Amino acid sequence: MNSHYLSLSFIITLFFFSTILPPSHCNVYEPFVKCSRPFECGSIKNISYPFWGGDRSAYCGRKSFKLECHNDEYPVYRFKELEFRVLNITRSSMTIARLDLWDTPCSRNLLNTTVNYTEFNYALNFHNLTLYYGCPPSVNRSFQNWFSCSSETGNANNGFLVDNETFLSTKSQVLENCNTTIKVPISRTALISESEFVDQALQNALNQGFDVQYRALPIICGGCVESGGKCGSNSTYPFVCHCHDGEQPYLCLRNGMHALSLFTFLY
Ligand SMILES: *[C@@H]1O[C@H](CO)[C@@H](O)[C@H](O)[C@H]1NC(C)=O
Ligand SMILES: *[C@@H]1O[C@H](CO)[C@@H](O)[C@H](O)[C@H]1NC(C)=O
Ligand SMILES: *[C@@H]1O[C@H](CO)[C@@H](O)[C@H](O)[C@H]1NC(C)=O
Ligand SMILES: *[C@@H]1O[C@H](CO)[C@@H](O)[C@H](O)[C@H]1NC(C)=O
Ligand SMILES: *[C@@H]1O[C@H](CO)[C@@H](O)[C@H](O)[C@H]1NC(C)=O
Ligand SMILES: *[C@@H]1O[C@H](CO)[C@@H](O)[C@H](O)[C@H]1NC(C)=O
Ligand SMILES: *[C@@H]1O[C@H](CO)[C@@H](O)[C@H](O)[C@H]1NC(C)=O
Ligand SMILES: *[C@@H]1O[C@H](CO)[C@@H](O)[C@H](O)[C@H]1NC(C)=O
Ligand SMILES: *[C@@H]1O[C@H](CO)[C@@H](O)[C@H](O)[C@H]1NC(C)=O
Repeated sequence: MNSHYLSLSFIITLFFFSTILPPSHCNVYEPFVKCSRPFECGSIKNISYPFWGGDRSAYCGRKSFKLECHNDEYPVYRFKELEFRVLNITRSSMTIARLDLWDTPCSRNLLNTTVNYTEFNYALNFHNLTLYYGCPPSVNRSFQNWFSCSSETGNANNGFLVDNETFLSTKSQVLENCNTTIKVPISRTALISESEFVDQALQNALNQGFDVQYRALPIICGGCVESGGKCGSNSTYPFVCHCHDGEQPYLCLRNGMHALSLFTFLY
């Protein structure tokens, strides 16, 4: 190989790449731009992958992590018939509280608490709270764990129990005759002690919410971010990496990397 041949092949190579490689400075891939913007809702700022919703497109997140912003006040996570108010979001978990039990234990939606267990786990720091509605007259003001609902929901005598409460057995026998029971996780730090403000303590516990951990976030997201991409999804794949010049399955390849690997391959 003489030097003349080398420089000629170099020029051909340059020409080759300048025609097949997309220019990197214009036509930035739209999902890359859109997914760079986090969304904000009320006091919760900087919501990003795996969450999407509002003006953050579905391709910027993971399917089951959709949030809606309620009146610009707080994000809402919805699962089946239940809505949850999102209180905090961290890298590995979010704190949520049932919206129907916010500021009142008198829900019109008497359903057990469920989230999408494929994607979320209750964190270890919770207690089961059981709410009993439509109880017999012996569950009244003289019963420590009593609360009353207005005529709208029709249940005057209602009670509750925290799963490992003292006197559990005697109280649960009385509460067995109530019409409806629902279970709600509460934070372990919100233990309801028996006091004259027991209904206030109950409400505080409900409003404090509980933590759910994300089960199976793709670890590959770290590599995508490192390579300058934004994690997301597309209509067929639950994970893709949005790069400034398009979409990749795992991470962004720089143009230089393409050229270098092709060059080594050809010569
Ligand atoms: C928002 O979150 C990203 C990563 O999740 C972080 O790099 C960035 O510093 C955060 N910005 C603010 C203003 O908190
Ligand atoms: C729960 O999450 C999985 C995984 O994202 C999803 O396929 C499924 O549709 C979700 N279930 C419901 C009821 O939303
Ligand atoms: C959200 O959680 C983080 C980490 O646990 C904590 O430092 C922060 O104070 C929490 N924010 C709110 C508003 O509870
Ligand atoms: C909630 O779950 C409990 C068992 O954990 C069950 O006894 C109760 O009937 C359920 N309540 C509703 C409203 O489905
Ligand atoms: C809460 O109740 C559920 C279902 O009844 C049970 O599987 C779980 O172990 C309980 N968790 C705690 C912390 O008591
Ligand atoms: C419980 O349900 C039964 C049958 O629906 C009803 O007749 C009764 O009034 C209810 N009890 C209370 C205390 O709401
Ligand atoms: C209230 O409950 C107690 C037992 O807990 C019972 O002795 C009393 O009769 C009840 N009062 C009414 C008005 O039902
Ligand atoms: C519930 O159980 C935990 C650990 O087993 C214990 O520390 C706590 O005091 C118990 N709470 C009540 C109200 O019995
Ligand atoms: C989804 O992403 C994969 C991996 O990047 C890609 O092969 C596929 O063509 C994309 N599908 C659609 C419909 O965009």
